[in-house]
Amino acid sequence: MQVSDTKGRLFSSKITYSPAAGAAACELTLAEMAGRIETLTGVPSLSQIEEWFSLLLLRQRDYEPYRMFTPRKYARNLIVRSPFAELLMLCWRPGQRTPIHDHGGSVGVVMVCEGLLTETMYERTPEKRVHPYNTFKRGPGEITGADVPDIHQLLNLQPKGRDLVTLHCYAPPLSVLNTYSPRSSRVGRWREGYFMGGAGI
Ligand SMILES: [Fe+2]
Repeated sequence: MQVSDTKGRLFSSKITYSPAAGAAACELTLAEMAGRIETLTGVPSLSQIEEWFSLLLLRQRDYEPYRMFTPRKYARNLIVRSPFAELLMLCWRPGQRTPIHDHGGSVGVVMVCEGLLTETMYERTPEKRVHPYNTFKRGPGEITGADVPDIHQLLNLQPKGRDLVTLHCYAPPLSVLNTYSPRSSRVGRWREGYFMGGAGI
């Protein structure tokens, strides 16, 4: 889906659900969502993942085992991974952030569990650099989807003592991502590891 921004430029839609959207008759626990990912037989669509997230019954006791931080950079804690999708909990101390990146051909959905997430969207310039065109602030329960061409940066810009916890699903699982800079046309390659359940960071 394409929508236009305030300058009339077209870009992929940023679909956001309010917390109330999850109040449906059919709720999904974190374990049930992990089970769906484990038993996938194909790559789910962005709208399918967004539907799971909109139904998620988010309880801290369910995600507490994955709520782990590291001092050097944000922690990527693996909950489940199949050949078709992965589910992770990312934990961010104040100031921790991703590079400016795309998802290397995967789609992604993020739900804020605790704290305030800052997401800045970028577009390519004719000089092959990137330029920010929008910034979103998302609070607990809010969901955002990233389509294949989207370029963004996620940050915890909250003051000292305010942590951020977010739940992420990527389909297919992330492999090598492209990173971008406002100051250079060079496109970098970025392979993320896992803090828990994988190669480590
Ligand atoms: Fe991302």
